[in-house]
Amino acid sequence: MLARGAAVRGGGLLRRAGAPGRGLRTSPAARGGMPSWVIDRYGRNEVLRFARNMALPAIRFPNEVVIKVHAASLNPIDLSMRSGYGATALNMKRDPLKLNSEENEFPLTLGRDVSGVVMECGLSVSYFKPGDEVSFKPKCLSHTEAASLPYVGLTAWSAINKVGGLNQKNCGGKRLLILGASGGVGTFAVQLGKAWGAHVTAVCSSDASTLMKELGADDVIDYKSGNLEEQLKILPLFDFILDNVGGATEKWALDLLKKWSGATYVTLVTPFLINMDRLGVADGMLQTGVTIGSKTLKHLCKGVHYRWAFFMPSGPCLDEIAELVNSGKIQPVIDQVFSFSEVPKAFLKLEGGHARGKTVINVINKK
Ligand SMILES: NC(=O)c1ccc[n+]([C@@H]2O[C@H](COP(=O)([O-])OP(=O)(O)OC[C@H]3O[C@@H](n4cnc5c(N)ncnc54)[C@H](OP(=O)(O)O)[C@@H]3O)[C@@H](O)[C@H]2O)c1
Repeated sequence: MLARGAAVRGGGLLRRAGAPGRGLRTSPAARGGMPSWVIDRYGRNEVLRFARNMALPAIRFPNEVVIKVHAASLNPIDLSMRSGYGATALNMKRDPLKLNSEENEFPLTLGRDVSGVVMECGLSVSYFKPGDEVSFKPKCLSHTEAASLPYVGLTAWSAINKVGGLNQKNCGGKRLLILGASGGVGTFAVQLGKAWGAHVTAVCSSDASTLMKELGADDVIDYKSGNLEEQLKILPLFDFILDNVGGATEKWALDLLKKWSGATYVTLVTPFLINMDRLGVADGMLQTGVTIGSKTLKHLCKGVHYRWAFFMPSGPCLDEIAELVNSGKIQPVIDQVFSFSEVPKAFLKLEGGHARGKTVINVINKK
């Protein structure tokens, strides 16, 4: 399986990239095919179809690379997209003028998180060359392990660093609370907090508490053993909260923050794409702006910051993550590995919930 990606420095991200520029080159006309799992309509797991001979991706913009995918990992967004979530935004990005939206929409290949080898580079790509293992893969990791890191790593980085303002220099001794600590993003966030010297409180189910301790969490709270709010209220106040759970949590979680000290609550569970799917692009964005604006203001008046965070592609951040992995401060946390023929099983596993780290697919079988 090959994937086309924008060449983000240090990256290898699956992102159709920017505007066409000078140096556009087309790929060779005579190209073979590749096996791929695709969907031809949105729905439940039965929409996944194995296509033996999909066209190979061609480089369309000079900053793109083609990657031979060795391993890929699944994220909750892949499940949601299988069911049509985010289709409005995706179609707008794919076909802004809506010229051919139906023709372009399917077959759709799901997935975004890969580790592999660069096969071909666009003319403006200088950071990568054919044969490089991306996302400049930490040398100590297999492709299977490396594929588990980019999406959750960059999402946690975006929430804690870009939005939350924490970094290696100012994080020492700060009190971090991670809600939903046992999943893909949570297991990375706990380790990042510890790598930067914070005191980390992890909230998870009891069967994940040993894993949390192994990852370095200082306090572990079982959200199923009694009222979570009451359990957390008796602890000292926090400087930062990362919410990977959403829902009713945000009604009380901000009361756990230190007041008037720059303390911040960041949630990853936002209605951004749902609003666009439900209301269309313009009204959806308007609704989103009103919601985030009013919540931010309400909490600012009470002395705390309320923020939303999103996955953010960044080559330099991937390089920093690779350094933390190479120095042993962050390790991949893999729940289960599936072969390429077992992709539907992997989706079902993710759909069952209760992730303990990541679900990974070995595309090139080297279990
Ligand atoms: N905004 C963005 O760009 C962005 C990017 C990535 C992820 N996300 C969102 O962030 C969330 C987390 O993503 P993920 O990849 O980490 O998901 P995940 O791997 O599926 O993990 C979710 C974890 O939360 C635990 N959990 C469920 N209910 C909980 C609760 N009430 N309290 C504490 N833990 C609970 C689950 O285990 P148990 O049920 O066994 O406790 C599981 O370990 C998802 O909603 C995802 O869609 C958003």
